[in-house]
Amino acid sequence: MARARPRRVVLGVTGGVAAYKSAEIVRGLVKAGCEVRCVMTPTATKFLGPLTLAALSRNPVSEQLHDPALWEMAHLSLAGWADLLLVAPATADFLARLAAGRAEGLLDALVLSYKGPVAVCPALDCEMWEHPATQANVARVKEFGYEIWGPERGDLASGKVGWGRLLEPAEIVKRALAAKPAAR
Ligand SMILES: Cc1cc2nc3c(=O)[nH]c(=O)nc-3n(C[C@H](O)[C@H](O)[C@H](O)COP(=O)(O)O)c2cc1C
Repeated sequence: MARARPRRVVLGVTGGVAAYKSAEIVRGLVKAGCEVRCVMTPTATKFLGPLTLAALSRNPVSEQLHDPALWEMAHLSLAGWADLLLVAPATADFLARLAAGRAEGLLDALVLSYKGPVAVCPALDCEMWEHPATQANVARVKEFGYEIWGPERGDLASGKVGWGRLLEPAEIVKRALAAKPAAR
């Protein structure tokens, strides 16, 4: 029987300045009783240490698709485990890869392998967000049935004010808890 709300959340973190906010998202989800496993892109680890997310989620953080220490294929085991796949923050490049169906990295391969609900929270500079390529990628991603949460208008890391700011972590947690979990 499908659960009322997601209990097992995979949080994908991609490489932008807002990666540090993923720590607050993990905290909020764990506090609400969710089990959280984080997948970071290699670039995300340049912005935030994986140890932080490992400690907050109380689970190992996955980063590599091709990890000789794992006999299991992480993208497949995580795809079978998660009630919800949340990507926050999502970079412009990740949106492009998602729209193209790429599977080169662990997070990309995981999305392709996953049959449950996917929510993507973009965070990027306003010019990147407004670029027709990004808008076309977002439209394509929505066609696949993925939800795009945000971005919102506000102060950006570049010092500009505009569209591209990650939704507040508390808002992302609220939406994640209200999402319909994957049917099992
Ligand atoms: C300091 C710095 C900050 C960046 N911030 C962002 C960002 O907020 N959003 C974004 O889409 N790209 C940002 N980028 C570019 C990404 O890091 C780059 O496109 C990278 O390839 C994304 O990799 P990933 O999607 O695999 O994590 C930033 C780059 C630098 C050097």
